[in-house]
Amino acid sequence: MTAVGGQTASKERCIPGVSFVRRAVDALAELTVVGSYSTLGYRWRAPTFAPIDQDLSGRTVAITGASSGIGEAAAHALARLRATVLLCVRDAAKGARVREALPASGGAGHQVVHLDA
Ligand SMILES: NC(=O)c1ccc[n+]([C@@H]2O[C@H](COP(=O)([O-])OP(=O)(O)OC[C@H]3O[C@@H](n4cnc5c(N)ncnc54)[C@H](OP(=O)(O)O)[C@@H]3O)[C@@H](O)[C@H]2O)c1
Repeated sequence: MTAVGGQTASKERCIPGVSFVRRAVDALAELTVVGSYSTLGYRWRAPTFAPIDQDLSGRTVAITGASSGIGEAAAHALARLRATVLLCVRDAAKGARVREALPASGGAGHQVVHLDA
């Protein structure tokens, strides 16, 4: 579950009476490890996520490890909400490639921040 500005991204918090069965199946998926620590877990749960429609224009978010994986996905998600993203990376070329693919922010442009590895 992801929270932005106190807004939950899970429908389970928004819909009262989410079924016990749904929670039980979720707990079982967790026990398999693969059901939690892989993209399978994400794909399983993603349809239950409520869309986040918060406008983050004017907000700046620094993301470490933004050149791939979770950090890159977070950069895209936050840029779609119009936040300005600081891509903190050890490989500036990778960071630049990620920045090129981001949707425009609602404020200053996204930046690559080259950090020591
Ligand atoms: N993916 C999952 O489902 C999942 C689930 C739970 C926990 N995690 C954990 O979450 C973390 C990120 O996962 P991920 O899938 O996003 O991994 P990833 O795609 O390998 O991304 C790792 C990021 O960290 C950077 N990085 C790696 N080693 C570094 C170092 N020594 N110094 C500075 N930066 C370094 C990488 O930079 P470069 O691009 O320059 O290599 C990249 O930006 C990992 O610790 C992983 O174990 C992942």
